[in-house]
Formats: sequence, structure tokens, C-alpha cells
Amino acid sequence: MEPAVAGRPDAMVALARQFAACGEQARAVELAFAASEQLAGDGNAGTLAGQLLSDSVPRWHFNLLRDTARNQAYEDAIRRAVTPGCLVLEIGTGSGILAMMAARAGARVVTCEADPSVAAAARAVIAANGYADRVTVINKHSTAVDPAADLPELADILVSEIVSNDLLSEYVLPAHADAVARLLKPGAPVIPARGRVRVALAEDRLWEQARAGTVSGFDLSPFNRIGHPSRQIAVGSPRLTLRSEPADIFDFDFAASPAPADASTHRDLRATGGPVNGIVQWIALDFDDQGTYENPPLAGSQSSWALLFWPFAAPMETVAGDIITAGASHLVDRLRLWREPPCY
Ligand SMILES: C[S@@+](CC[C@H](N)C(=O)[O-])C[C@H]1O[C@@H](n2cnc3c(N)ncnc32)[C@H](O)[C@@H]1O
Repeated sequence: MEPAVAGRPDAMVALARQFAACGEQARAVELAFAASEQLAGDGNAGTLAGQLLSDSVPRWHFNLLRDTARNQAYEDAIRRAVTPGCLVLEIGTGSGILAMMAARAGARVVTCEADPSVAAAARAVIAANGYADRVTVINKHSTAVDPAADLPELADILVSEIVSNDLLSEYVLPAHADAVARLLKPGAPVIPARGRVRVALAEDRLWEQARAGTVSGFDLSPFNRIGHPSRQIAVGSPRLTLRSEPADIFDFDFAASPAPADASTHRDLRATGGPVNGIVQWIALDFDDQGTYENPPLAGSQSSWALLFWPFAAPMETVAGDIITAGASHLVDRLRLWREPPCY
């Protein structure tokens, strides 16, 4: 703590802003976090502290904590894997919830978090819940964790939840490959063990609304060329109807090191009949050989992960049994889906 401003939260926030402006993020966060505790979010200074601390923090952090099915699936898998006193390494602390689950199951835990605000908040959460003696938060990206300096020994288990709606955009594959190679004991279990990309044919009843057509008498359709090739739809939304059985299009081993190479594939999807205007994609996490979490596009389902809908260039009418081929490719952090053009 900077002695010149100690005990004066307004001055602490002002100094934190100066540190942030000159790129001293860690000092800015330390001051803003201490000030926000004293101010309890009140007044101009409290709001400023909140802005400083939250600028880098995605809003989905708060949604995923309410995903009780996700939380339970993780806790069940952690309980199955943890033995008393074993060392769990977590990648991506967030609020600290998974690290505390591992500690509650009897593990010692080292958890790394790349974002300084999130790491500071996680330390406060972990201390408030009485786990500070069993959980160590390191404010580092996992690839910067030093096994000699940051870990008491190589870890017995890896836990992470760094999967995005398309599974890959949070760099889960290279982060895991690096941890498996450098930070874990050989053969250590990885939770989740596998991640699958699932797809089905679908009709989005709001397909038209995400496109530019005729507006004020002008044809804006060329604008569609700069539209995103996929759109997010909330799980359980009634706008979506499935038009085929689901299929896995990619299945990744999260213990693979080196990371799986970029690849392309395709899957034949048998239509159940009716209008089809795109492919819906979601994820499944296989924690071990017993537990799976999925965010399927089914009425009544809920998830903190969104579905990704990959619209066709034009809707089509199908009859039951029609085969439509979905193409897919992935890079290290990116997924692409499309409808293969029919062969004539
Ligand atoms: C989706 S949140 C999950 C948080 C928490 N583990 C949970 O399950 O609620 C992922 C967190 O991991 C962090 N993160 C992502 N990749 C990371 C990496 N390779 N090393 C360290 N932190 C990472 C992000 O900043 C984010 O806070």
C-alpha cells in the first residue's frame, strides 16, 4: 500500500487512476481494490474504483456462477478425483469457486488467474470463506507459471473452466497442452478430460431479423457480407427448432500435449423435415468417464454458455431423410462451421 494515501480512499482511487494510465496495472488494482473495500461502492470515488477494477472483467463471470448445473457437474468431478492432500492446479481462478470446491474436497490448491482484478477479488473471496491457507492464487497466465517457483511440486490434478461458446476461443487447447507438459505429474487427470463440439440442423425463426434487407426503400443486402458468420442464441430460446439429430463434429482430448493440430472435417446430418436455415452448435464437457455437462438447444434447458447459430446464405425446405452435410474446421482458438454445397 502507498503510505502517502493510506486511509484516504478518494486519494487512493486518484492514485490508482494514475498508475493505470501509465500501465502499472498491478499497483492500480491493489489501490483500487483496497479503496473499494473502504468505500463499499459509494460516491464518485467508489464508482471510479468500480470502473477501474471492472474494465477488463467480462460480464459473463456473474452469469456462470448462477449456472448451478455447471457448478454441480464440476464439484462432482472434483470430488471423484481429489484424494486427501493432493495438489490441484487450476487454470483460470475467476471467483475462486472451483479452487474452493477442490479445497473443500481435501486438496491443496494453486490457482492461476491472468487478470489482476479477478485475481485480487478471488483472493478476497477465498480469504472470506476461510480457505486462504489451502488455496494460493497466482496472478499469472498459466503459460507463465514457473513449476519451481510457483508450485510446491508438480500437480496431481488439473482443473479448468476456460471454454467458450465455440469451446476454443479462450485458448483451452494450448493452455492445457502447456500445463500437461510442464506443470503436472505424468498421467495426471485433467478436469474436464474432453470437450466436444456438437451440431444439428435448425430453423431460427428470427433468421431474417439479423440481416439487412430493404430499409427506407434502399436495398441494403450487400451489407450482409460484413455480418458475423455466427450469432449467439440463448439456450432454451423458443426461436430455435431442431431439424436433425445432434452429432459430434469435433472431440478434443484436453490432456493432449502438444495441442491437437488444426483440422477440418464434415458430418452428414439427416433432416427431420421442415425449414432449415442454419446449423446450431453447442458444447459438451466430459469431466471423466462418469460426468458430462452439455448446453443443448432444447426447450426448457438453461446454461451460462450460449448456442452459436451458423446461418445459411438462404433458407431451404427439407423433407425427412434429406442429408445435409455440415463442414467444420478449427484453428487453435477458432471454430468455423458451414453447409457443404450439394454435389451435382
Ligand atoms: C470462464 S472463467 C472461469 C472462472 C472460474 N474458474 C469458474 O469456473 O467459475 C475463466 C477465467 O480464467 C482466466 N483465464 C483464462 N485463460 C487463462 C490462462 N491460460 N491462465 C490464467 N487465467 C486464465 C480468465 O481471466 C477468467 O477469469
